[in-house]
Amino acid sequence: MKIDGTPFRSVWVEPSDGWSVRILDQTRLPWEVEILRLVDEAGVAHAIKSMQTRGAPLIGAVAAYGVALALRADASTAALEGCVARLNATRPTAINLRWALDRMLAKLHNLPAGDRVAAAYAEAAAIADDDAETCRMIGQNGLPLLAEIAARKPGETVNVLTHCNAGWLATVDYGTALSPIYQAHDAGLPVHVWVDETRPRNQGAALTAFELGKHGVPHTVVADNAGGHLMQHGQVDICIVGTDRVTRTGDVANKIGTYLKALAAKDNGVPFWVALPHSTLDMRVRDGVQEIPIEERAPAEVTDLTGRTADGRLETIRVVSPGSAAANPAFDVTPARLVTGLITERGRCDASEPGLAALYPEKV
Ligand code: MRU
Repeated sequence: MKIDGTPFRSVWVEPSDGWSVRILDQTRLPWEVEILRLVDEAGVAHAIKSMQTRGAPLIGAVAAYGVALALRADASTAALEGCVARLNATRPTAINLRWALDRMLAKLHNLPAGDRVAAAYAEAAAIADDDAETCRMIGQNGLPLLAEIAARKPGETVNVLTHCNAGWLATVDYGTALSPIYQAHDAGLPVHVWVDETRPRNQGAALTAFELGKHGVPHTVVADNAGGHLMQHGQVDICIVGTDRVTRTGDVANKIGTYLKALAAKDNGVPFWVALPHSTLDMRVRDGVQEIPIEERAPAEVTDLTGRTADGRLETIRVVSPGSAAANPAFDVTPARLVTGLITERGRCDASEPGLAALYPEKV
C-alpha cells in the first residue's frame, strides 16, 4: 500500500545491506512516518513487545526475520531453539506468532548450521510474501459482501464498522478486515467506514484512520461506545473485524471491545464478519473463552494518553484520577454464535467446525 505515493510493506529487508530489517514505528503514527532498522533478536523482541510493530500477521512475519537476525550471531541448534522460545514469549494472544516461529523451526532445524542463515531469510521472505497474497485474496473474497449491500441500496453509501487496526499496518500488506474495503473503494463502490477509536492504545483512531485517509477512503472515527447507538439507528450495514486467533469451533479472539460490538450487532441484526488468514487458525483450541490466553498489558496504557499538541510536540498525559488502579486486558473472545461468518483467502465460511473443515480440510 502507499503512503503519499510511496509503496510500503510493513516489514522488509534493507536493500542496501541485504540483511537488516526495516519496520515502520507504529507508536509514532499517525504523526511521524519513522522507519526503524532492526539488527538483532533483542531489537525485534523489543519492537514486538513495545508494539512498534503489531497486528497478528505482522508480528509473525517480523519474528521470522528475528530468527534470521539471531542466527547471524549464532546458528547453532541451541541458539535456534532459544531465539524461537524467546520470540514466542513476546506476545501471548495472536497465534500467528507461534505459527511463523514453528514454520521457521521446522524449516531450519535439520539443516547444517552453515546453511541456516540464508534459509532463514528465504523462509521469512516466503512468510511475508504468503501473508501479502493471502490478504489480497481476503479482500477478493470479502468484496462481494460489500457489493451485495451496495446493490441493495443503489446510490447510497455502504457503512462498515471496524474495530482496532486490521489494515495493511497489521499485516505485511493489504490488511485483513480492511482489504475488502480497499478493494470495494478501488472498484468505485461508495464505502464509508466507522472507525472505533479502540482504547486504550487507539489503534483505530491512530492507525486505521491514518491508513484509510492515505488511501482516500471516507471514514469517521467514533468513541468505542458509539457502535451500539449507530447500529440501532441503521447507520451500520456490516461490521468487519480482524482477529488474533480463531479456534476450530469458530470462536474469535480480537482486540478488547470486539465482543461488545458483536453483541450489539446481534441485537440489531447487523452482519458481523471476521477476516482472517490461515495463519490465524488454531485448530488445537476448541473453547476460545476458556483456552485462549489474553494478554494483560500495562495499566499506564489506560491511565495515560499520548497525542500531539497544537505546537507539534508528542505528549503523554494522565487522564485517570490520581491513585486509582487500572486494569488492561488487551483482547477478548467473541463466541462463534455471534459471528455471521469468516472471510478467508480460500473463501467465506460459517464460524463453525464444519465451516472451517470445508475450507481447510488439511487442518482438521
Ligand atoms: O494489540 P494489537 O494492536 O497487535 O492488536 C491487533 C488486533 O487486535 C487486530 O485486530 C488483529 O491482530 C487482526 S490484524 C490483521
